[in-house]
Amino acid sequence: MKHAALPILFLLLLSSVVRPQDGPAPTPQWRPVYHFTPLKNWTNDPNGLIFLDGKYHLYNQQNPYGIGWGHMSWGHATSTDLVHWEHLPLAMPETIDKDTTWRFSGSAVWDKNNSSGLCNPGGCLIAVYTADQPNLKKESQFIAYSNDRGRTFTNYANNPVIDLQKRDFRDPNVTWSTQLNKWLMVVALPREYKVRFYASSNLRDWDLLSEFGPGGYTRAAWECPFLVPLTVEGKKGQGSEKWVLVVSAGGAEKGTYMQYFTGMFDGRTFTNDNPSDTVLTLDYGDCFYAAIPWNGTPGKDKTYIGWLTPGPQATYPWTGQMSIPRDLSLRETPQGLRLVQTPASLIRNKLADLSHHRVTEAKDIALRPIKKWKAMPGNAYWIETDITVDAGANAGFLLAAKDSITGTRIGYDATLHQLYVDRSHAGGGKIKPGREIQTISLNNTGQAGSAAPTRKTIHLEILVDRSSLEVFADHGLYALSTHIFPDEDANSIYLFSNGGDAVINAIKIWDLSPVH
Ligand code: FRU
Repeated sequence: MKHAALPILFLLLLSSVVRPQDGPAPTPQWRPVYHFTPLKNWTNDPNGLIFLDGKYHLYNQQNPYGIGWGHMSWGHATSTDLVHWEHLPLAMPETIDKDTTWRFSGSAVWDKNNSSGLCNPGGCLIAVYTADQPNLKKESQFIAYSNDRGRTFTNYANNPVIDLQKRDFRDPNVTWSTQLNKWLMVVALPREYKVRFYASSNLRDWDLLSEFGPGGYTRAAWECPFLVPLTVEGKKGQGSEKWVLVVSAGGAEKGTYMQYFTGMFDGRTFTNDNPSDTVLTLDYGDCFYAAIPWNGTPGKDKTYIGWLTPGPQATYPWTGQMSIPRDLSLRETPQGLRLVQTPASLIRNKLADLSHHRVTEAKDIALRPIKKWKAMPGNAYWIETDITVDAGANAGFLLAAKDSITGTRIGYDATLHQLYVDRSHAGGGKIKPGREIQTISLNNTGQAGSAAPTRKTIHLEILVDRSSLEVFADHGLYALSTHIFPDEDANSIYLFSNGGDAVINAIKIWDLSPVH
């Protein structure tokens, strides 16, 4: 278990697996309603995301036997709307033979022309994943094929398909490259803070194209990379697409962390737009990790989903959940090109139905003095709002609140130019120590308070789902994902403004709690 390669998981083991002798208490009050959780047991990274037969397949790292990390296998679920999931039997269990093989993270592609030679007529699903062999202290890349539309997989007989005889070499992400007319893989060398690009015409024989890194954030193992072309908002035709390389890097002082690089990919080499030491943060919270996009989705949207890594608070009978699926694009900003992520339009467009039309709309509400505004008994809802905060004011929402003090604050501090989530008086279950307050600097200098205070209007989307909280600001330019563990009677929304005035220009809330 103390796998040197898995700093994030090691921290999690320390925090979430140690439980009282008398067994864990069930925590249905923290089971998310519109986010994916496994029915029971442990989950971490999303794996093998693919749209097939009209369904979004979500494979994921699972421990079929317990509430902590271990026995790594691929769990499986499908959905047509990214909200309701059908839980299917394990797709790939661990293999126990002389060399225990755990099925670590990877991807899946639809081999419609049988390029692999492993398919029945009509094509097959190929999973490309890391075989982690703890006894051999080795990680190498394996493929497995499914001729029953992704329900079960058979290992290719001549695995591994790439073996560097390394302890840390993992998380292959494969897509079809129209540039190369070949399969393209990006895979991490975690301890070298590098990724490697490989190409293949049959998914079995892989040629090294190039390496990228070290660069950006290099103080934690690089894991779960992916490379994707994305459209720059408002642009059309030639030059409207840029490449984005995303890398998870978790376990060191930043905790759970993901970064990205924008640049060019010429079919062989990725060239970073920015100086090598530029660090671009993907999510400002403390739990968004190992996110990868779906292959083969209809339409133009690139949609990805991440794992919200658990902290010290046990949940039972499951551990770990996925984020809201998010659509990806790019935006030109005065600071350069930036990644934009918004909750998947597939879900947003269905909010009226998903909420059974329990929608509240309001306009022009003063946030001062502090007031209890609304009860949301199920603690599962979705807010979209524009608020204007005067210079000198500190204003926002107190959510999952028991009274005017106990709850989670989401606010904007106009003096510091900071959007923040403050869980210092959240009550309820345990949160990661030292992570009570999480901030995003909105003055674009990267330094709090270094510009003159001004009045500011902010667009926010706030997703509360019992134990998860995701905040999207400025139409997806900033994201912050974290956990909350409110007491059952802590389910009100308060509004507050200190030190000056603030107003909600407009607000809409969809109640997504179950209808009884
Ligand atoms: C990321 C990770 C991956 C690995 C998997 C094992 O959370 O450490 O690098 O493949 O989890 O479960």
